Amino acid sequence: MNKEIIVSGMRPTGRLHLGNYHGALKNWVALQDKYKCFFFVADLHALTTAYDRTENIADNGLEMVIDWLTAGLEPEKCTMFIQSRVSEVSELTLLLGMFTPLGWLLRNPSYKEQLVEIFKKKYAGSKDLDGSLTEKMAELSEAELSELSSFGFLGYPVLMATDILIHKALYVPVGQDQVAHLEIARDIARKFKDIYNADIFVEPKPLLTNVPRVPGLDGRKMSKSYNNTIELGEDVEAVRKKIMTMFTDPNKKKATDAGNPEGCVVYAFHKIYNPDYETRNKECRAGALGCVACKKHLFELMEPELKKFNERRKIFAADKGAVEKILNPGAEKARASAKITLAEVKKAMRLI
Ligand code: ADP
Ligand code: TRP
Repeated sequence: MNKEIIVSGMRPTGRLHLGNYHGALKNWVALQDKYKCFFFVADLHALTTAYDRTENIADNGLEMVIDWLTAGLEPEKCTMFIQSRVSEVSELTLLLGMFTPLGWLLRNPSYKEQLVEIFKKKYAGSKDLDGSLTEKMAELSEAELSELSSFGFLGYPVLMATDILIHKALYVPVGQDQVAHLEIARDIARKFKDIYNADIFVEPKPLLTNVPRVPGLDGRKMSKSYNNTIELGEDVEAVRKKIMTMFTDPNKKKATDAGNPEGCVVYAFHKIYNPDYETRNKECRAGALGCVACKKHLFELMEPELKKFNERRKIFAADKGAVEKILNPGAEKARASAKITLAEVKKAMRLI
């Protein structure tokens, strides 16, 4: 029987963090044994926002693949590649874009969220905007907002849909924040079928881990854009310091105050790293444990795993040539799969 297909990607916009790891990458590693998997560096997606800062995209991609290998992805079990090296993806994106309604893209919730981030980057450091960027942004007219955006940026979900549909993936392992994008991919697949009366695509479903939204140090979603991350491969001592700054229940001022673990970042991490997190929950609620002790214990739990990752990472980072040797055949395999779908689509659209 043919194995079911999995596709997922990550943008090379900086170093990966524990949110990426526990929200997606850990799943990728588990899935490679059972499914036919395509995992890629979404460098075209990075371009949608960083079109004027392209100097680090290639290096970030390489570092990212080193993290993937360290986490346990194996080239014998899954196909790893760089998105832009599969030119069929760009071609199919153009074709799918022909019938994707603009309204779907404008209504996409992450479109406006991301616009805020672009806005902040553009005006970072500008004195009169500091501290109230989001409010200032809310005052912008639709026309001013659309000036910040580009054709490529608005089309982000079409490109993402293509990544998935081109390999006919059934499952897409991602974090919670990507689910809205996946919905658009499903809509595009359906619309194609309606218009061209051709049953080519598979409607993809998200696959979430048990921590689909890992919080950052400040309690918001952990994200490169929020500067609230613990990076994969980060120096262990630096991680210890970061843990000591983690957001906790503001009402628990003294160790003996009763606290509420829900919404506490330290507790969220206990849930990930501590098999007996229930005990921490009870102690916190009873005022039997202070936040400092709770943080110290969390670090003790995380330390061996982080050290092991860092040691293993050194081995992969020492041979970057070997990474290229994985990515080149990876792109060839992805192209072979992509070509088949592209030809089917062109036929259905009567281009060939
Ligand atoms: P970032 O927000 O840091 O730029 P990406 O958007 O590149 O991260 O995310 C790459 C993958 O990691 C996606 O599948 C995304 O859903 C997942 N992911 C990112 N941040 C988190 C998080 N805080 N919790 C769970 N999953 C996450
Ligand atoms: N949008 C995803 C992110 O920001 C990256 C991505 C691009 C992706 N294409 C994809 C994820 C296809 C899953 C499937 O993390």
